[in-house]
Amino acid sequence: METYRNFHRRSIEDREGFWAEQAGLVHWEKPHTKVLDYSRPPFAKWFVGGETNLCHNAVDRHLASRGDQTALAYISTETGEERNFSFRELHAEVQRAAAMMRSLGVGRGDRVIVYMPMIPESVFVILACARIGAIHSVVFGGFAAASLAARIDDARPKLMITADGGSRMGKVVTYKALVDESIRLAEHPPQKVLIFRRGLDPAMPTIAGRDLDYAELRTKHLDAKVPVIWLESNEPSYILYTSGTTGRPKGVQRDVGGYAVALAASMRHIYCGNAGETMFTTSDIGWVVGHSYIVYGPLIAGMTTILYEGVPIRPDAGIWWKIVQDRKVSVMFSAPTAIRVLKKHDVAYLKKYDLSSLRHLFLAGEPLDEPTHAWIADALGRPVIDHYWQTESGWPILSSVPGVENTPIKHGSPSFPVFGYDLKLLRESDAAEARAEEKAVVAIAPPLPPGCMTTVWGDDERFVKTYFGTFRTRQVYSTFDWGIRDRDGYYFILGRTDDVINVAGHRLGTREIEEAVNMHSNIAECAVVGVADSLKGQMPLAFAVAKDASKASSPESRKALEKEVMETVDRQLGAIARPKAVHFVTLLPKTRSGKTLRRSIQALAEGRDPGDLTTIEDPSALEQIQSALKE
Ligand code: PRX
Repeated sequence: METYRNFHRRSIEDREGFWAEQAGLVHWEKPHTKVLDYSRPPFAKWFVGGETNLCHNAVDRHLASRGDQTALAYISTETGEERNFSFRELHAEVQRAAAMMRSLGVGRGDRVIVYMPMIPESVFVILACARIGAIHSVVFGGFAAASLAARIDDARPKLMITADGGSRMGKVVTYKALVDESIRLAEHPPQKVLIFRRGLDPAMPTIAGRDLDYAELRTKHLDAKVPVIWLESNEPSYILYTSGTTGRPKGVQRDVGGYAVALAASMRHIYCGNAGETMFTTSDIGWVVGHSYIVYGPLIAGMTTILYEGVPIRPDAGIWWKIVQDRKVSVMFSAPTAIRVLKKHDVAYLKKYDLSSLRHLFLAGEPLDEPTHAWIADALGRPVIDHYWQTESGWPILSSVPGVENTPIKHGSPSFPVFGYDLKLLRESDAAEARAEEKAVVAIAPPLPPGCMTTVWGDDERFVKTYFGTFRTRQVYSTFDWGIRDRDGYYFILGRTDDVINVAGHRLGTREIEEAVNMHSNIAECAVVGVADSLKGQMPLAFAVAKDASKASSPESRKALEKEVMETVDRQLGAIARPKAVHFVTLLPKTRSGKTLRRSIQALAEGRDPGDLTTIEDPSALEQIQSALKE
């Protein structure tokens, strides 16, 4: 067996040879003429001239060998529904969806925003976009109308696809009503909205001429045959918006061929998922994990993928393990927060099921603390692999790679750089490589490997400036995470270098939350910081200055104003971004040049030393923060 060290070295030293080999894992209608074109750094073009299609690789390719195998297994503990689709049935549904989109004028390069709950139709429309070369942009259903409107205006979709409603913990979320509101707010709304009615919002209003019913339109295209459009490897496949330092989300753009190859390679070498087996990824299609490892990755690998609508503790904390047993899941992928939630329940919920089919549990999206890692590894008796990556990368950056070598797992560490990534730990001050045990910025020397973002949608300059502009002397990609490598070569992630926080695995920008808080008419300014939370990892905490201070002068009025501010955040961004608390102060700690001292505020909120305060304009501002925290 090859050692992982060699495998990784080969992927860097013989980049083109390595990836040309991996390219053989997917179908190419036309082979590439060049493995890598890096003539315009930092833009990397992979498999230039090659033609392929993500939908073909995920669906059509398997028809001959496994047409009757379940491709998509839908399980909803919210509605009690279960539906299975074989590759053949999925093929038919995807073609129907593709024909419907075409009838609405959607073609190659057009954008389609998908704002959907976790239902099979979401997967159909995503794959249908890929089939006809339309660019999908899936927006997580937890985002509110104003966030959705900002994404509409950036992507300028021809079509939006939604459902009447979703359900969370038995409570209906009216998706279509949110879409209506977002379209009212947007400057570049789509002409058509396609709606899948689940019967969750019987009172759902429709707009004649704009709104179309999915089921009704589907009946007109039951026998549709929509051929795959072969796309050049570097054409865009999708846009996925993510938070960064500014209040404006970035449209992470991905290609077709590089993504297909990276996913296929990761399915084989990292996840060890084989055709005919089952993968269960507990994320949402609105996040990158859902894109890569609910939809595309497992299907490209010829696996059955489970689409689960529900929470991990309903009807009880054994539900996921029951699914593993009943569906003979061999690869499972979840997030640390979910495991911390399950850890609060009796381990008997896990032990009562036969989990012998499960080979590995992968966790990502946020730091995995050692006690949680140890608890779940012990309870399962299987390797639990912490792995680290980002929306931007699209697939793992740091991971154990058990398909190549079973390296020992260290709790709290996502192991080693994944093949294809020339990972560096660079000192913030001079971009020099850090020594072992020295905290530094996790960076990637370009070219980025296949599968990673190719640019920011519509803004090449922002891509270069944001991601490659951290160091003056060196053009490297910054992950905006701090990391450290121990003497055995294991990496550890120590949190973000920027203003991004991670709430229950959901990535949020504190600047976005600040903008939302500022939308309240009685807020003059505010600072939002992330504070440690034992369950969710982090929670946003807001400190705000009221315009009319008399409305925040008594405990009762402060409570009332806090509630209003929270509701404003719910409306602007979504309840996932709601601050844990809103504290009112009369001034914020700032430097003399006017920069808010967010790091000092965060330190105080977490009970740590606020650090260097020599630049502070008015020290009494920090005292206010301290007394507000005591309240
Ligand atoms: O800060 C890192 C954290 O989540 C960020 C990326 O979030 P997102 O774009 O939503 O992509 C998630 C894909 C799994 C990273 O910059 N993060 C992700 N995985 C880990 C992590 N932090 C620590 N350990 C991890 N395993």
